[in-house]
Amino acid sequence: TPPELIRNFCIIAHIDHGKSTLADRMLQITGVVSDRDMRAQYLDRMDIERERGITIKSQAVRMPWSTAEGTFALNMIDTPGHVDFTYEVSRSLAACEGAILLVDAAQGIEAQTLANLYLALENDLQIIPVLNKIDLPAADPEKYAKELAGLIGGKPEDVLRVSGKTGMGVEELLDHVVAQIPPPKGDPDAPSRAMIFDSVYDAYRGVITYVRMVDGSLKPRERIQMMSTRAVHELLEIGVSSPEPTPTKGLGVGEVGYLITGVKDVRQSKVGDTVTNAQKPSSKPLPGYTDPKPMVFSGLYPIDGSDYPVLRDALDKLKLSDASLNYEPETSVALGFGFRCGFLGLLHLEIVTERLEREFGLDLISTAPSVTYEVVTDDKKSFTVTNPSEFPSGTKIASVTEPMVKAAILAPKDYVGTIMELCQSRRGTLLGMEYLGEDRVEIRYSMPLGEIVFDFFDHLKSKTAGYASLDYEPSGDQEADLVKVDILLQGEPVDAFSAIVHRDKAYAYGVLMTERLKKLIPRQQFEVPIQAAIGARIIARESIRAMRKDVLAKCYGGDISRKRKLLEKQKEGKKRMKMVGRVEVPQEAFIAALSGD
Ligand code: GTP
Repeated sequence: TPPELIRNFCIIAHIDHGKSTLADRMLQITGVVSDRDMRAQYLDRMDIERERGITIKSQAVRMPWSTAEGTFALNMIDTPGHVDFTYEVSRSLAACEGAILLVDAAQGIEAQTLANLYLALENDLQIIPVLNKIDLPAADPEKYAKELAGLIGGKPEDVLRVSGKTGMGVEELLDHVVAQIPPPKGDPDAPSRAMIFDSVYDAYRGVITYVRMVDGSLKPRERIQMMSTRAVHELLEIGVSSPEPTPTKGLGVGEVGYLITGVKDVRQSKVGDTVTNAQKPSSKPLPGYTDPKPMVFSGLYPIDGSDYPVLRDALDKLKLSDASLNYEPETSVALGFGFRCGFLGLLHLEIVTERLEREFGLDLISTAPSVTYEVVTDDKKSFTVTNPSEFPSGTKIASVTEPMVKAAILAPKDYVGTIMELCQSRRGTLLGMEYLGEDRVEIRYSMPLGEIVFDFFDHLKSKTAGYASLDYEPSGDQEADLVKVDILLQGEPVDAFSAIVHRDKAYAYGVLMTERLKKLIPRQQFEVPIQAAIGARIIARESIRAMRKDVLAKCYGGDISRKRKLLEKQKEGKKRMKMVGRVEVPQEAFIAALSGD
């Protein structure tokens, strides 16, 4: 297809504003999916994928659309909606010339609407503002058209109104895509360059790489090179999804499609990388490539220690399809053998633990999420800490820096006070505040990421009756007065409970954990002190009083079988006990203390 007849676009929206439903309707209206095959959420088939163990998900779909000007190829590129995947979103956007900015006509603009809009503007995309769900009785298109026009400029009348559910306005929207979004530009005679905007692992075919051709062309059987690693592969298949993968004779300037080389690990085909021809390579990779950097770390441990090998295999398998997952073995006094894992953010952590539990049948406990700290000691040694128990305690610390984020919170104006209080309590600094329309406010804060990963979102939601939405982006490191609080049982530190907190919050953390553990740990034969400490200084203390635990005392000698049963039971209980120094702690107590139950 010549570039003049191509339009590359994506749909950007806040979660639940109806992106998948609209995408489905477009597939149906353009005829690439027949009405008979149409199921809800054609593109969003993660569950079916899991059940069948095959990848049928399509990251980009090609749809024909005819207007008076001719028949166009519309490439709709899917973007992940969540903040954790900002980098992936920005690469998907870089593959497009335009974006449909979709907003629920009953909800208005939300935090992810803005975050995605800013990314789209950074990538110079043509924006088509659209209100969705106008069939809803609660829809207020007049009000939100004004809000949207106020945000991106233009007139409220120019904001399109559609219903992904009924199909109303969708044909008109496709005409606007053709008319408003510019065709792709590129040099057909230059050495070939294609940008990878997604790569997906498929159990049968290996990695499927989604690319947008920028210059030149790629053809089957050619040898191609990944510019970041210089690795060379043979192009086994190249094609377009419409929506099932369909091999073609190649891809030219502006086209969007997939390629298969037989590599087995998505790390060999990285999002953002440039693909070129190995015989006639380009000398300049496309801009914007970075390696995904984990932001949030947590220890993952199998509740049943004998599941450790299963966990290791499961992580190895997940890594094939998730280039941003990092892990290395780790042992803990409290939890045994496990892995320290690095994630892009909290949602990524949740997705991975859920997949490990669902797809591999594991029962896992995860330690409190931590961020990356840079520590410099008095003798000028510096190191990176991702696990609080590795934070130096003996040495003198000159400085500690922590990652900061710029957070944007959108909420109805009545909640401004509550939100500011919450952000202040999380060491936030107000950056600015703006009204979007009459009753909605955007509040911007600079905050430590470490405060956000610690149940900030849950608090925000519960304090605003679910109305607030949050988005954030990394904004560098900043020095802070941070200390490590250790929790000791009979003088022995329990690694899984060490935490890095601001000095002002150390006492509160110490009291919380010592009280929690006192309730959870059963009495022993001797008194057990539970202490919280910063270095050698004790900041909080509880103790569990001694108890003589003689299970046979009640049995008055007589009934042997009852005695044996009791002994048996006691042994059973012992198996799940962990020793911390001389103290026996049931593993459930650690788990309960970590999950805050
Ligand atoms: P995620 O995939 O979770 O990000 O959400 P999404 O933005 O793709 O939204 P989705 O298409 O899943 O729609 C969210 C909800 O809104 C679903 O319950 C849809 O049935 C409903 N919905 C979507 N479009 C419309 C519409 O035009 N009208 C009405 N009444 N409901 C709609």
